Amino acid sequence: MDTNKMTKPDNCVIIIFGASGDLTKRKLIPAIFELFKQDNLPEKFAVLGTASSEFTDDEFRSQMKEAVLKVFQDSADIAEKFAAKLNYYAMDFKNEQAYNDLASRIKSLGGTCGSGCNYIFYLATVPSLFESISINLGKAGLNVNTSGFTRIIVEKPFGYDLESAIKLNNVMHTVFTEEQIYRIDHYLGKETVQNVLVTRFANGIFEPVWNRNYVHHVEVTSAENIGIENRGAYYDGSGALRDMLQSHLLRLVTLMAMEPPSSFDSDAVRNEQLKVLQSLRQLTPEDVEKQVIRGQYIASSIRGSFVKGYREEKGVDTNSRTETYAAIKFYIDNWRWGGVPFYIRTGKHMPTRVTEAVIHFKKTPHFLFKESRDISDNQFIMRIQPDEGVVLKFGMKEPGKGFKVHNVNMDFHYKDISNIHIPEAYERLIYDCMVGDSTLFLRADAVEAAWRFVEPIQKAWAENENIKIYGYPAGTWGPDVADNLIEGEKRTWRYPCKNLADDGIYCEL
Ligand code: BG6
Repeated sequence: MDTNKMTKPDNCVIIIFGASGDLTKRKLIPAIFELFKQDNLPEKFAVLGTASSEFTDDEFRSQMKEAVLKVFQDSADIAEKFAAKLNYYAMDFKNEQAYNDLASRIKSLGGTCGSGCNYIFYLATVPSLFESISINLGKAGLNVNTSGFTRIIVEKPFGYDLESAIKLNNVMHTVFTEEQIYRIDHYLGKETVQNVLVTRFANGIFEPVWNRNYVHHVEVTSAENIGIENRGAYYDGSGALRDMLQSHLLRLVTLMAMEPPSSFDSDAVRNEQLKVLQSLRQLTPEDVEKQVIRGQYIASSIRGSFVKGYREEKGVDTNSRTETYAAIKFYIDNWRWGGVPFYIRTGKHMPTRVTEAVIHFKKTPHFLFKESRDISDNQFIMRIQPDEGVVLKFGMKEPGKGFKVHNVNMDFHYKDISNIHIPEAYERLIYDCMVGDSTLFLRADAVEAAWRFVEPIQKAWAENENIKIYGYPAGTWGPDVADNLIEGEKRTWRYPCKNLADDGIYCEL
């Protein structure tokens, strides 16, 4: 069976705003190429890249070909065919008139698609341009399409805080209907993130224990072993809370915590996710001081190489108080999760790259095996990346005399299913937008609910100078004080290793 074969979407042109940017080269074009390679694009299809830089179509094609070949080294022939589908149009996004010319250019794509075609606008620019591009598309009449659909994909971050997210939603709604807007969070496009839903809702064995009666706490970690690379200017105005926690990690939490939807219809799924966000207990300013830890990496040496501190990075203020690490403890006030603490943390320049969500189960009510009191709790680990898969950790008898308990793992690794193509997040999401499936995209209300939850943290950090930002040496697991968040005797954060079944400070990374 060819598992890669999907329904072919209807003809369409994807117009990428911000086509000279890093995201287009590193993620969008390779994802569209992979769809092309798998024969999952429509017969009539074109990409029109647009940005302010002046390139000819040929120059743009050769740059994109190079970008594709960086990812798919042995696909030169097919990359050549793919490049023929790419076009370029230079424009100033703030110039209204340019959008009328853009409209003519889109229609002139003739042979590939042209008039009678469906349109997807992809906003991959700096977020400050999202409003003006939307308004100008509307003024040029590009928001309606009498002969097909027009959809708009908006990159993250969607807003900078609650107020700006509400404003952006309001502005976009004056031009596009909610059904036309696809707010992207690439984490939802990850196969392993979607697998959280399948694990929970396709198996009868997990549901009965997936609640406050059996779960002691839930832990989510997203660590990166890189710094901010060349994104100082963006990152210094963003920080880990906005860049990762408000978006990717809260999404993951909603999937871990949501109730089973009544169907897999996009609104049914998204309604349940929204309810989780609406049930997050708001933090008071005092809670922020106690339950949220922020950190910033400082210069260090990692495996013999010098790594500069965050404040020494290009584009970063030398007195910056922007966090490159954030950890938070919070509660979801509903029947399923009442009283169960959730701990999430994320950071740059940590020892390894890993994203995982862990359900820690309660210990048995009365532990019989005295020799093994230190045995860790039962854990169900969902590894999002790398070494994608799941592990269930539980105790078994160590062979021999007495009753010594030993922790063992039952694990599944995606890499073991070698004959299946696992789509990259952007590949999946761009395809879903083409076929009009918005399940894995964010609805306006969910985006606002997530900002509503982080707003008190943003405020407290901005207003209360006593809230410390802790330095942590690059290459470590963040500030030590974050350990204090995890309560209870012998409970610590997990220290994930390269292999999903292992953990510990000294394991292979
Ligand atoms: C992006 C953030 O959204 O996600 C980056 O802006 C971060 O700072 C990236 O590095 C992480 O994505 P992934 O897929 O590599 O986990």
